[in-house]
Amino acid sequence: MEYLKFCFAFLCWMKFVHRVSSTEPPQAPAPIPKENLLVLTVATEETDGFFRFMQSANYFNYTVKVLGMGDTWKGGDVGRSIGGGQKVRLLKEAMESLGDQEDLVVLTVDSYDLIFAGGPEEILRKFQQANHKILFAAEGVVWPDKRLADKYPSVRSGKRYLNSGGIIGYAPYINKLVSQWNLHDNDDDQLFYTKIYLDPLQRQTLNMTLDHKCQIFQNLNGAVDEVLLKFGTDRVRVRNTAYDSLPVVVHGNGNTKMYLNYLGNYIPNVWNYEHGCSHCDDNVVDLSQLKDYPNVLVGVFIEQPTPFLPEFFQRLLTLDYPKDKLKLFIHNNEVYHEKDIQKFWEENRNVFGSFKVVGPEENLSQGEARNMGMDLCRSDASCDYYFSMDSDVMLTNRQTLKLLIEQNRKIIGPLVTRHGKLWSNFWGALSLDGYYARSEDYVDIVQRKRMGVWNIPYMAHVYLVKGSVLRNEMKERNYFVLEKLDPDMAFCRNARELTSHREKDSPSPESFHMLRPPKGVFMYLTNRHDFGRLISTANYNISHYNNDLWQIFENPVDWKEKYIHQNYTRIFTENHIEQPCPDVFWFPVFSEKACDEIVEEMEHYGSWSGGKHEDKRIAGGYETVPTDDIHMKQIGFDKEWLHFIREFISPVTLKVFSGYYTKGYAIMNFVVKYTPERQAYLRPHHDSSTFTINIALNNKDTDFQGGGCRFHRYNCSIESPRKGWSFMHPGRLTHLHEGLPTTNGTRYIAVSFIDP
Ligand SMILES: *[C@@H]1O[C@H](CO)[C@@H](O)[C@H](O)[C@H]1NC(C)=O
Ligand SMILES: *[C@@H]1O[C@H](CO)[C@@H](O)[C@H](O)[C@H]1NC(C)=O
Ligand SMILES: *[C@@H]1O[C@H](CO)[C@@H](O)[C@H](O)[C@H]1NC(C)=O
Ligand SMILES: *[C@@H]1O[C@H](CO)[C@@H](O)[C@H](O)[C@H]1NC(C)=O
Ligand SMILES: *[C@@H]1O[C@H](CO)[C@@H](O)[C@H](O)[C@H]1NC(C)=O
Ligand SMILES: *[C@@H]1O[C@H](CO)[C@@H](O)[C@H](O)[C@H]1NC(C)=O
Ligand SMILES: *[C@@H]1O[C@H](CO)[C@@H](O)[C@H](O)[C@H]1NC(C)=O
Repeated sequence: MEYLKFCFAFLCWMKFVHRVSSTEPPQAPAPIPKENLLVLTVATEETDGFFRFMQSANYFNYTVKVLGMGDTWKGGDVGRSIGGGQKVRLLKEAMESLGDQEDLVVLTVDSYDLIFAGGPEEILRKFQQANHKILFAAEGVVWPDKRLADKYPSVRSGKRYLNSGGIIGYAPYINKLVSQWNLHDNDDDQLFYTKIYLDPLQRQTLNMTLDHKCQIFQNLNGAVDEVLLKFGTDRVRVRNTAYDSLPVVVHGNGNTKMYLNYLGNYIPNVWNYEHGCSHCDDNVVDLSQLKDYPNVLVGVFIEQPTPFLPEFFQRLLTLDYPKDKLKLFIHNNEVYHEKDIQKFWEENRNVFGSFKVVGPEENLSQGEARNMGMDLCRSDASCDYYFSMDSDVMLTNRQTLKLLIEQNRKIIGPLVTRHGKLWSNFWGALSLDGYYARSEDYVDIVQRKRMGVWNIPYMAHVYLVKGSVLRNEMKERNYFVLEKLDPDMAFCRNARELTSHREKDSPSPESFHMLRPPKGVFMYLTNRHDFGRLISTANYNISHYNNDLWQIFENPVDWKEKYIHQNYTRIFTENHIEQPCPDVFWFPVFSEKACDEIVEEMEHYGSWSGGKHEDKRIAGGYETVPTDDIHMKQIGFDKEWLHFIREFISPVTLKVFSGYYTKGYAIMNFVVKYTPERQAYLRPHHDSSTFTINIALNNKDTDFQGGGCRFHRYNCSIESPRKGWSFMHPGRLTHLHEGLPTTNGTRYIAVSFIDP
């Protein structure tokens, strides 16, 4: 019985479902086949924005007809003036030739600043739902004639005003609309459409409405806060959160080009979480297939004292690229660096295709110097690329130049970041006044959680520009000097807003309706590889003799690379440590450079103590076992030295004296000089330390004879100290020791009494 009841209920339900579905859309028209949609757009030049538009259109298989390509743009000049009439004229001509095809739906859109986020079927479905013959894009700003605002029909919710950047309609109606055009190319297209729309009679006969709730058209002007990226498995869309719609056509009108560029890094399928970057390998250049490597002019800019400059030059030399294909232009603004450049020039002037240096005596401003470097490439038809590099860029990836060339963009930079910081060489967004603003994806790009090739509004420090671009789109000179902007900000603004002539004052907000085609060249940043880092030039004190020694805090990675022994880490990975006497451990810690520079620093300072018992530098003023030495504190190196002990000595202590946790504290840190002419040896003694380190700073036989250390309790001597290697031994009780006589030359050691 129960069973039957259930069956009955089930049958009833089935019947109900059947009835509902069979009666549901009695009057719903059949969907318009997607073949019936034609996209018309006006573009006079193949700008980067145009290619982006076409890429999204091709992805969705839109049929696109481009009007006006190759024509000169006459539709008005700078953003301040009205214009765009040329677009209507071209559309009028196109519609005449299309005739009155009743079934044809025409979508006419701008192209330079527009991206498709959905396909033709969706547009047509939404157009049908709108139930009008012509549908215009809408926006919240009335333009170009504010006085017309009141004439617009009021809307309860949604955008009230017409925007002519997007129109969809049946061909015969669009034809009737644009056939009314009899104005000039530089007259305003939006005003033309607005007047027709505001005529109640025309509005009815042409059956026109606006896409008030952004079902199809999303104009970003005034609506940036309404849209969010919505990631799907294959596609990325924008969602309009005000109307909960998924617009199909995203238009970066007005002052929103950069925001559109940001969205364009994702929509429609450029990057998503599942597949990462889907166009990164499109149109790449295969350098191995070229007969010859391209010619690159490398512009190097040393605009402030920069730590590790010799290392910067070494990295330039070790770039994997034929050096005869590289020409070098160096602008050095610092007298301090002239010796480094002189040395590099002497050793390598014949290595490069050419080598030009402009020094501080020329007194060039940074902007002038950067203009000069760029001009050298611009004016040399054989210059294929201009590679600009600031002296604070440490390219650790030897392939960087090749990888950038292969990516084949007009302007592209590699991501470089300050070690362990979110500081990098690009900005993901700009604030309203043109300065730094953080984009939603900035941190992920810096940390390489999202990898790809990103269209960004600002970058500096290192980038590659095609020579052909410098001779065409960017043929104007003087890109680096603009108002009071930093040279890099001037360059990026000029690249973004390339105009036929320079805008003198900031345009008013309305004028951002830019009807003139923006020719801006897209600037890309790639983080597909680890390219290198930015060093800090802040707090670079150049009043010492070897200033990089002091960089242990500010640039720890570069400090370690330069000053720590190549085999130091093997202490931990391979137990690369020796024990020549009981509880005397011996391990590599300093590089040759560290040893040499510390000795130079001390000799430069020059005030050796003379090995006297009276010593004002220490508490009590009396030293029982004096050495001929200079304290680290005397050269202002004590903080740095203690940091070195904590970073590089403490881990070794923990390894060899397990269970002992050093505080890494030491009062007595000094360099000792042994020489037969002054003090040649040190009599047996204990150290006032828990343990002592003793680092040899030069080489037996080449720099001195004799020397070494003897531990009495074990009758054990180490007579061949190794440069850069340190002893570590207990200071008291068991390890009575003496310094063996240096018989010729000069021997230097660095000593610390740790945990006194
Ligand atoms: C576009 O057309 C190609 C080839 O017919 C097809 O493989 C692809 O899926 C289409 N794309 C879309 C988004 O429909
Ligand atoms: C506009 O056209 C649709 C059909 O496409 C029709 O249903 C509607 O009534 C028309 N509206 C006016 C105001 O003529
Ligand atoms: C260098 O140029 C600056 C500004 O361009 C000027 O003020 C300064 O006097 C110049 N210095 C020399 C040494 O020519
Ligand atoms: C730079 O170093 C010198 C020498 O040690 C010192 O006198 C000076 O105060 C330092 N300058 C700064 C800004 O730290
Ligand atoms: C590091 O160890 C390797 C292998 O023992 C050796 O060839 C190399 O010379 C060492 N490096 C230095 C700087 O001593
Ligand atoms: C110490 O060692 C040396 C050789 O290494 C040896 O000649 C000498 O006799 C030893 N002295 C003592 C006290 O064991
Ligand atoms: C001492 O060193 C100098 C140079 O380093 C060398 O010329 C001389 O022969 C050495 N003297 C002895 C006795 O080894």
